[in-house]
Amino acid sequence: MQSTTHTNATDSPVKSEALKDNQFRIDAVPSGSALLVGDAAVFNVGGSFCATEAKCTHRGGPLNEGKLDGSTVTCPWHGTQFNVCTGAVLRGPATEPVKTYRVIVEGEIGRVEKEN
Ligand code: FES
Repeated sequence: MQSTTHTNATDSPVKSEALKDNQFRIDAVPSGSALLVGDAAVFNVGGSFCATEAKCTHRGGPLNEGKLDGSTVTCPWHGTQFNVCTGAVLRGPATEPVKTYRVIVEGEIGRVEKEN
């Protein structure tokens, strides 16, 4: 005798809709960490989110891979430090600030707003 069984056990929750390029799940960015969202780096600074362009203004190092300490990120390539909420250079070698973007959070989803 043949019975039909459902082998499709992908227990996926309904809310796993596709994220847009500028969106992220806020639980993917715990406090003190960073995430690459499109070409922006999103940082969780003690529970609130700040975003900058992901590339360091010195030579394009990946700021989302830098060490975050409070609101200060250190570029992994040559050690420039930026304030991720204002974009200001805190320590060289970079001299140009990074662009910052607004982050909007709605429920579990965050969104990087670019205004250019
Ligand atoms: S690329 Fe970031 S400090 Fe040089």
